[in-house]
Amino acid sequence: MSRSEFCGSTVLVTGGAGFIGSNLCHRLLDDGPERIVVVDNLLSADMVNVPDHPAIDFRLGSIADDRVLQQLPQQFDWVFHLATYHGNQSSMHDPLADHANNTLTTLKLFDHLATRQAPRKIIYASAGCTVAQKTFDAAEATTEDDPVSLYLDSPYQISKIVGELYGNYYFTKHKLPFVKARFQNVYGPREILGAGQWRGTPATVWRNVIPTFIWKALCNTALPVENGGIATRDFIYVGDLVEGLIACAHKALPGSVYNLATGVETSIGELAHLINSAAGAPAPVDLRPARTWDRSGKRYGDPTKARTELGFTAATALPEGLRQTVEWTRANRSVIERCITQHRHFLDRKAGL
Ligand SMILES: NC(=O)c1ccc[n+]([C@@H]2O[C@H](COP(=O)([O-])OP(=O)(O)OC[C@H]3O[C@@H](n4cnc5c(N)ncnc54)[C@H](O)[C@@H]3O)[C@@H](O)[C@H]2O)c1
Repeated sequence: MSRSEFCGSTVLVTGGAGFIGSNLCHRLLDDGPERIVVVDNLLSADMVNVPDHPAIDFRLGSIADDRVLQQLPQQFDWVFHLATYHGNQSSMHDPLADHANNTLTTLKLFDHLATRQAPRKIIYASAGCTVAQKTFDAAEATTEDDPVSLYLDSPYQISKIVGELYGNYYFTKHKLPFVKARFQNVYGPREILGAGQWRGTPATVWRNVIPTFIWKALCNTALPVENGGIATRDFIYVGDLVEGLIACAHKALPGSVYNLATGVETSIGELAHLINSAAGAPAPVDLRPARTWDRSGKRYGDPTKARTELGFTAATALPEGLRQTVEWTRANRSVIERCITQHRHFLDRKAGL
């Protein structure tokens, strides 16, 4: 198979207005699909991310909504299921909203697809954090067949793994060509702080660590570093991650699971230093206590299986990826400011102002 197999095809991207989904849509357009149907309820996304292109067919709504499902085209060549209730902390604040927009979305989508002619592949966005070790000691890279704890840290993590279980069921019983892609920590352009609706905690605005640190560094405000910055993560650039998703679409074995990871562990302390140098304006570090809910302090993924079976390697080194993300953040300052500002009264109330 070659990439040009997307040419003339019909693709469904759920969550396609979000950070990773929109990068995927932009990338897929290079291959000339006939139509990319994007279903997104803009819970954690902004329309500015959706490509303005005649092949994009944007549907505002939830993929768990029967009317939305019924109005989808009869057949898709490819499906990328990226919709989620973002993220761990929002899900702890409102587990039912997580269920409605994370677990239920996945079940309804797979159940719907089982009644149609099967796509060539359905790629499901799963999360490496669900299988990560719960340790602050030296971590081992998680492999695809590592055991999953029955005591996960958040409803988000539960939803992600339940999605895998449902996918396995529909693969086994209904022959849906389902593939699980387990992402490590993704960063890069189009992750807009504050995009979408207030979801109950300041984590609505301060999403993952990289966009948060970059924004704060550019605004010369202190970078909040928890637990002495000893936690580690495996940061994968979104351009690479998208190539990994495309490799899954082309080469993955239905029913299989693949880590999309770099295999490189970076501490949060080191990350703060790298971001300060990429931003060129060193911000102070604000040392804070460890987060009480997050027990997987040190974690990274083993990329061997994806490299061997899919030929996928995350090529972008962290300093280069950060450089590109800083550049994008500078160029999109007004969009980010608009999205952050729409939550200002909630943030002020949280801060007791
Ligand atoms: N960003 C990461 O580091 C990371 C790591 C592991 C896994 N993932 C997975 O990757 C996927 C994309 O994540 P992201 O970082 O781009 O997050 P995101 O919040 O930017 O994207 C999620 C999208 O889903 C949409 N959405 C929410 N509920 C929906 C619903 N009911 N129907 C349709 N759309 C809905 C949101 O509006 C948003 O556009 C998610 O499935 C996430 O679990 C991300």
